[in-house]
Amino acid sequence: MNEQISDQQINAAGHLTIGGCDAVDLAHRFGTPLVVYDVQQIRNQIRAFKQVFEENSVDYAVSYASKAFSAIAMYQVVAAEGAHVDVVSGGELYTAIKAGFPMANVSFHGNNKSREELEMAIDHHVGTIMIDNFHEIELLADVLEEHDAHVDVMLRITPGISAHTNKYIQTGQVDSKFGFDLQSGQADEALTKVLENPRMQMKGLHAHIGSQIFELAGFEGVAKKLVEVAAHWQEKFNYQAAVINVGGGFGIRYVKDDTPLAPEEFVAAIIKAIKTEIKETNLAMPAIWIEPGRSIAGPAGYNLYTVGSRKDVPGLKPYVTVDGGMGDNIRPALYEAQYETVLANNPRAELVEHVRVAGKYCESGDILSQNQALPATKPGDVLAMLDTGAYGYSMASNYNRNPRPAVVFAEKGTAQVVIKRETYDDLIHLDEPYQQ
Ligand SMILES: Cc1ncc(COP(=O)(O)O)c(C=O)c1O
Repeated sequence: MNEQISDQQINAAGHLTIGGCDAVDLAHRFGTPLVVYDVQQIRNQIRAFKQVFEENSVDYAVSYASKAFSAIAMYQVVAAEGAHVDVVSGGELYTAIKAGFPMANVSFHGNNKSREELEMAIDHHVGTIMIDNFHEIELLADVLEEHDAHVDVMLRITPGISAHTNKYIQTGQVDSKFGFDLQSGQADEALTKVLENPRMQMKGLHAHIGSQIFELAGFEGVAKKLVEVAAHWQEKFNYQAAVINVGGGFGIRYVKDDTPLAPEEFVAAIIKAIKTEIKETNLAMPAIWIEPGRSIAGPAGYNLYTVGSRKDVPGLKPYVTVDGGMGDNIRPALYEAQYETVLANNPRAELVEHVRVAGKYCESGDILSQNQALPATKPGDVLAMLDTGAYGYSMASNYNRNPRPAVVFAEKGTAQVVIKRETYDDLIHLDEPYQQ
């Protein structure tokens, strides 16, 4: 029995429900593989983050890191919940623009923003540019001059804090491709350049220490470090930071052994650490911004697959193959990410075997789960993989020229397609015949 599925999520037919919709019906109605989001869960997590700040009477922004899942519908929901977003590419920015997202609440991240991307951000009055490197300071200065514009900026620093998480998703240690190094004085030099530029309003400082982090210590450490830097900047440059942005990275439960705190508890600890540290300085309390991606989108998402072939090898775990795989969720193949999967038509059925849930892609590494306990399954059964909402669809590919799945938003018993399933024609629509 899967502990993640509550009794409320099982309907009278004994099926899994998502956002009040029967998961088996969704699979039959919209086809599989299918990505389904429980929209209320997205809203609830944003609200939980906001509540912590409000209870602590702190000025704040919850800025959804839309790299976790970017779609017009997602920006609409985030906007309706009064949260901000961060984008990391022209494409994410374009999607937010098309969603009518309030541009003042957009932060633009990235360690190699192009001139075109910066121009797009300036033309659309993006709220904050998160400056990552010296090249960007010059490029942005140029763009602002040419467009006769001004913009709020924050500096991303590398705080030298290494979070205990998978090394592929660490971004805050000293040897990182992101941000200005503190120890060598790069961050001070960057601040000097920004303060010299009358077109850039220096709003504050940012750090992001990694992703899928379970320990509080890393967040408390980064909070302390950012206040130290802010105090140093006030002393040395007479510059007072209005915002301290601690990034995202709050870990979520994927499998039974994951036991993270609730995401908002990480935030409560961060607020406490910043408040305590600020008392040691003569700084005014800054606004605190967070950038959660995974914790907002992850637990709300489900990937539905239909079971097809099976391979039994004596003495080895069987392969139960589904109609999706690394094209719609590359995380297991990329960094051995683990998930739990249930039988959608009977999540409470007795578990009878441990299997490998294999994808359909031509790659031996395309195994979605290495060791999943399942009831007896047969071709045509629908499997629901849990917590797939972050970095799943957003990292999807057309490997093997498989069309990407549809995405459905389910809420209060109603389901809507928010990204259509790709067709074979979509797959070739950029192809041009070769004139030999
Ligand atoms: C700058 C920044 N902010 C926020 C996030 C979101 O992290 P998470 O999805 O772990 O909350 C990331 C993820 O890599 C990031 O690079």
